[in-house]
Amino acid sequence: MTPYAKLVFLVVCAVLPLGGCTEADNHPGQPVQHRVAAFKKMLQSMEQMGMVVRERQEFKAADFLEHAHELKALAQEPWQYFTPNSNYPPTRAKPDLWQHQTNFAEFRNDLDESLAKLIAAAETGKMDMIAPAYTSVEDSCEACHQRFRKTLQ
Ligand code: HEC
Repeated sequence: MTPYAKLVFLVVCAVLPLGGCTEADNHPGQPVQHRVAAFKKMLQSMEQMGMVVRERQEFKAADFLEHAHELKALAQEPWQYFTPNSNYPPTRAKPDLWQHQTNFAEFRNDLDESLAKLIAAAETGKMDMIAPAYTSVEDSCEACHQRFRKTLQ
């Protein structure tokens, strides 16, 4: 890229949401792009269930259980892309993540455990069990973001 093209690219990147700049990832294996895409699938899955929990969509126990399993599977995906050399723009990962792998893994485990509880709650078919379990999954996402994801300016 010429310096001018690069400047234009950076300016355009600054005004687009993160997804708009994933073309910037021309590193081998595109780890940042892949993990952000994996996280976005998790978010979509959360949002689908959130609609049901907030009574914006009809609760169908069997479907909800399926979604919970789906999210558990999706939530295994992003971590393989936090490779040693993958701290580069446009990542929102805090740079000290790579020095605190054990702590990072603890947050992953918390998420896994809260997802196991969500599945158990979904198996009861009772919304009064599901709603608090869903909230604690949200809390697990948020806790790790607080610790390891930069806030947007
Ligand atoms: C163990 C830590 C951890 C957990 C748990 C976690 N995330 Fe993240 N998440 C991150 C990090 C770090 C990034 C930044 C990745 C990057 O930009 O390279 C991120 C990025 C994202 C993004 C990308 C979009 C953006 O603007 O950064 C979404 C969406 C997201 N997470 C959703 C979720 C959801 C939904 C959950 C729970 C179901 C969750 N995450 C759980 C660490 C975590």
